[in-house]
Amino acid sequence: QEDVFKKIVSHCKEYGFVFPSSEIYDGLSAVYDYGQMGVELKNNIKKYWWDSMTLLHENIVGIDAAIFMHPTVWKASGHVDAFNDPLIDNKDSKKRYRADTLIEDYLAKLDEKIDKEIKKAAKRFGDNFDEKKFRETNPRVIEHQKHRDEVHERYKKAMNENDFTELRQLIIDCNIVCPVSGTCNWTEIRQFNLMFATEMGSTSDGAMKVYLRPETAQGIFVNFLNVQKTGRMKIPFGIAQIGKAFRNEIVARQFIFRMREFEQMEMQFFVTPGDEMKWFNYWKNLRMKWHLALGFNKENYRFHDHDKLAHYANAATDIEFNMPFGFKEVEGIHSRTDFDLSQHEKYSGKKMQYFDPELNQSYTPYVIETSIGLDRMFLSVISAAYCEEILEGGEMRVVLKIPPALAPVKLAVLPLVRKDGLPEKAQEIMKISKFNFTCQYDEKDSIGRRYRRQDAIGTPYCVTVDHQTLEDNTVTIRERDTMKQERVLIPDVEKEIIAKTDM
Ligand code: GAP
Repeated sequence: QEDVFKKIVSHCKEYGFVFPSSEIYDGLSAVYDYGQMGVELKNNIKKYWWDSMTLLHENIVGIDAAIFMHPTVWKASGHVDAFNDPLIDNKDSKKRYRADTLIEDYLAKLDEKIDKEIKKAAKRFGDNFDEKKFRETNPRVIEHQKHRDEVHERYKKAMNENDFTELRQLIIDCNIVCPVSGTCNWTEIRQFNLMFATEMGSTSDGAMKVYLRPETAQGIFVNFLNVQKTGRMKIPFGIAQIGKAFRNEIVARQFIFRMREFEQMEMQFFVTPGDEMKWFNYWKNLRMKWHLALGFNKENYRFHDHDKLAHYANAATDIEFNMPFGFKEVEGIHSRTDFDLSQHEKYSGKKMQYFDPELNQSYTPYVIETSIGLDRMFLSVISAAYCEEILEGGEMRVVLKIPPALAPVKLAVLPLVRKDGLPEKAQEIMKISKFNFTCQYDEKDSIGRRYRRQDAIGTPYCVTVDHQTLEDNTVTIRERDTMKQERVLIPDVEKEIIAKTDM
C-alpha cells in the first residue's frame, strides 16, 4: 500500500499534476503547487461540485467571500479560543507531534494486530471459520481487544474533558515512542492555535492583527442576510462557496491530504429549527450519491458517524475514502444548529434573523453544512484512478482511469505518421475541437508511445488520423480503458466526444 502511495506521488510530479511548492529551494512543508494537468483536474472537480449545488438546486446560490475577515469573526466563531491542537515534543529528537494523532495511530496499530490474527485464522479454518466465536475465545485477540477498549475509553474521556495531563500519561502508559528517537521521553502537552495571523494596514496606533481564514464557512454566515435579502431567498435555501483556507497543521508526510494552504468547497443550508434532522439525512445521502456517481468502486466509500460532537453540533458524519494509507475523511456533513448565526448576532450586535412569511414569525435558522476538501477529493480521484496493467506481450502500462468528465485532457489528436498530409488533417480536427473541450496534439514518437503518454494523464479518447482518413474522411477513436478502436466520420468526432465526456 505504501508503495502504491509513493508511486502515485511520483506520478503526480512526473506528469504535471502536483509539484512541491518552491521546489528549487527544497520545498515548503505541507504546501504544494498544481501543475498543468493538476489545475485542469482540479477545475473539473470544482465544476462537478459547483454545478451539482447551484444548477441542480434552484434554492442554492454561490458567493466568493474574501480570505481576510474582521478579526472579531474568529472570536465569535470560537476559532481564537478553541481552534487548537494538543502538541507534544519528544525531548531527545526535539520533534513535535499532535498528541491525539500519536494515540490514534497507536489504536490503528492495535486494530491491525487484531485484523491480522483474524485473517490468519480465517485462512486456516476456511469455510468453517466463525469470526464472532473466534473473537470471543482466542486469548491473543481478547487481550488486544481489552487493551484497545481501555485505551480508547481513556482517550475519549481525556479529549472530552480537555485533560492533557491524562492524555500525556496515556502516551507514557502505552509506551508510545517517537519514530525518530525511539524514546518515550515526552514534554508536557500544550495547546497550539492553528490559525495563521498577519497584520493589516499600518497606522500610528499600530496595525490590526488579522487571520487567514481557517474555513470558508464564516464568509457565508456573515453574508447570510445579504444573500437572503438581495436574492429574495426563502428558507430552506443554501449558499455555496469554493475557496482557499489556511491551517498551521503539524503534519506527517501525507502529500496533499493535510496541507497548510488548501481549498474547501462548502455549502451552508439554512432551515427552520426542528427540520434539521430531516435535512441532515437528505444531505448525507445526496453527498454520498455525488461521490458514487463518479463510478469508482463503492467499497471505497463509507460513512463515519461521530459519537463525539462539537458543542454546537447536534449531528455529524464524515464521508471517508479508502486512500492508499487507509480510510480517511474527505467530507464532513454537520448539523450546526443556530450556533454560528447566534454568535455573530451576539458579537456584531446585528440581528441575524429571518422573517418566515409562511409561519409569520422571525427566527434564527438552523444550518446543515456540507464541507469537502478539494485537495482530498483530488487525491481520492487520482488514487482510485491509478492502475498498472500488464498488456499482451508483457509490456506494462500505467493508466489513470479518471472519469471522462473530470479528465484534464478529453481528446488527443494524433497523426499516425509525420508526413503524407496526415499532420495537416489532424490540425483541422484540432481547430474545430479545441473550442469545445481540452485537446492535445501530439506527433512525436511512435503511436504506441503516444497512447502510453495519454493513458498516463488519463485522456479518455485518442483520435488517430491515418492513410484511410485521406480516402474516406474517417478516423479511429480509441477508448482509454478498453483500448478498443472504432472508425467514425470526422464531422461526427466532436459530438461523439461531447456525448462521452459530459457529466
Ligand atoms: N466548516 C467546517 C470545516 O471546516 P473541517 O472538518 O475542519 O470542517 C472540512 O474541514 C474539510 O476540509 C475536511 O473534510 C477536509 O476534506 C478538508 N480539510 C480540512 N483540513 C485540511 C487540510 N489541512 N488539508 C487539506 N484538506 C483539509
